[in-house]
Amino acid sequence: MDARQLKIEAAQVALGHVKDGMRLGIGTGSTAEEFVRLLAVEVAAGMKIIGVPTSERTAALCVELGVPLLTLDETPVLDLTIDGADEIDGNLTLIKGGGGALLREKIVAAASASMIVIADQSKLVETLGKFPLPIEVNRFGLRATELAIAAVAEKHGLPSSLALRMSNGTPFVTDGGHFIVDASFGRIPDPRALSNDLHAVPGVVEHGLFLDLAEAAVIAGADGVRTVHATR
Ligand code: A5P
Repeated sequence: MDARQLKIEAAQVALGHVKDGMRLGIGTGSTAEEFVRLLAVEVAAGMKIIGVPTSERTAALCVELGVPLLTLDETPVLDLTIDGADEIDGNLTLIKGGGGALLREKIVAAASASMIVIADQSKLVETLGKFPLPIEVNRFGLRATELAIAAVAEKHGLPSSLALRMSNGTPFVTDGGHFIVDASFGRIPDPRALSNDLHAVPGVVEHGLFLDLAEAAVIAGADGVRTVHATR
């Protein structure tokens, strides 16, 4: 089964958690896009939901497919967010931000009563960190912020291999107007401690470690789709 089909299957199962009248956070990335396509079919058939997109890219797809949207300012409390992830560990701690939308994704997830992650099984890992951690940084003082992130890495015994994300030869700019530094830590044994120390760096706007946000993960693999629940 190809990767796209797995994403569609995970999205289909997650769609079963969407009820009429919900205010729904809508994620970003190729898996979330499959969810939007399926959601649009339900909306066309009469389902009443209000979506809050986590990126301009997702907003554009929703508009194209007729999924009704409001901003988070208009609907600041959400029932459910459905989003993809770059890595998922056994505690449902996530790495997100491969698509560059981590800041809005985290704000929307935190405003939601619940978050369900959708992914193919390749995203499940024992220890987070093989996927470089996206860190959204203010453009001002980029070099100083990179040095401060490197110091955090050193404190945690992690390699300080940092790369400014580029797009067509210039730095990638997020929907919020910031840069992204991708940190190849390799292995993150203590995501909570790393999260706290990264948040203490003034130039760090947000990072892609999502702690205590996902309530369930719908994982599609060759053997079928299973739902993993957070144990907290
Ligand atoms: C977007 O910024 C990310 O957090 C995505 O949710 C993540 O990269 C997963 O994307 P895919 O579904 O395309 O793998």
